[in-house]
Amino acid sequence: MTVFGILGAGQVGSTLARASLAAGYDVVLANSRGPQTLQGLVWQLAEEVGPRVRAAHVEEAAAMADLAILAFPYAPGTRLPNDELAGKVVIDNNNYMVWRDGTIAEVDSGRKTIHELRQEQLPASKIVKAFTHVQFHGRHQLRVPEDGLPAVQRLARPAGAPDRTAMVVSSDFPEAVAVVTRLYDDLGFDAVDNSPLSESWRSTPGTPMWRHHVDGQSRAELLENLRRAQRELT
Ligand SMILES: NC(=O)c1ccc[n+]([C@@H]2O[C@H](COP(=O)([O-])OP(=O)(O)OC[C@H]3O[C@@H](n4cnc5c(N)ncnc54)[C@H](OP(=O)(O)O)[C@@H]3O)[C@@H](O)[C@H]2O)c1
Repeated sequence: MTVFGILGAGQVGSTLARASLAAGYDVVLANSRGPQTLQGLVWQLAEEVGPRVRAAHVEEAAAMADLAILAFPYAPGTRLPNDELAGKVVIDNNNYMVWRDGTIAEVDSGRKTIHELRQEQLPASKIVKAFTHVQFHGRHQLRVPEDGLPAVQRLARPAGAPDRTAMVVSSDFPEAVAVVTRLYDDLGFDAVDNSPLSESWRSTPGTPMWRHHVDGQSRAELLENLRRAQRELT
C-alpha cells in the first residue's frame, strides 16, 4: 500500500488526507508544531474515513512516505527533510502569493518558477507541481449550499464520467508525472501534463485555467486555458 506523507495539515493537508484515505492510501500527517497537535484530526479522520492514518514529526513522516506533498507556502531558507525525501516524488502544492509571501525577484522577473525554486531546495527529490489550482476549503458562506464541500471532493468523478474534470501536473521527471497522474485518477480527476517546471507559470494564480479552481474544467478546456496563458513579468 502506498504511504502518502502529507507535510502540512491545514486546509490542503487535512482535506487531501481525507480524500486519499478514502481512495485507499495510507496517510502520515505532519505539521510544524509536532504530532501531539494533530491527534484530534487523526482521530476524526480515523473514525470518519478509516484507520490507516497517523501523525508524526516532519522527518519521520518524510522517511515513511513513498510519495510526499509539501502543503505549505514556499519560503527561502526553510529547513526541509532533504535526506528523508531524497529520491522520492514530492508534490509541491504551493501558490506564490505576494500578499502572503512577499516578493520573490527570480519569479517576478520570469527567471524561475516558484516550483523550480522548490526543486532547488530539494535537489535530490523529484518535485511535481500539483493540486495548486483546486479549492481545498468549503465555501458555503460564499456559494450555494451544495458548494459546501471543497472542490477537490465535490468535483471528483469516476474515470470516464462525462463531467470528469482535469488538473494540471508539471515536473522535470516523467516518472513523477506518472505517479501524480495515477494519484489524480485515484482521487477522481484526469491529468494534463504541463511539464517541465519552467512551464508551470501557465497555471499560476490569475491565469485563465486558475480561475476555474472552484468550478473545474474539462481536459480540453484546461489544455486551451494553458495555451492562452500570458506571462506577466515585472
Ligand atoms: N487552501 C486552498 O484551497 C489551496 C488551494 C491550492 C493551493 N493552496 C496552497 O497550498 C499551501 C497550503 O495552503 P493551506 O490553505 O492548506 O494552508 P494552511 O491552512 O495555513 O496550512 C498550512 C499547514 O502547513 C504547516 N506547515 C507550515 N510550515 C511547515 C513546515 N516547514 N513543515 C511542515 N508543515 C508546515 C502548518 O503547520 P502549523 O500550523 O503547525 O504551522 C499547517 O498545518 C499554500 O501554499 C497554498 O498557496 C491552497
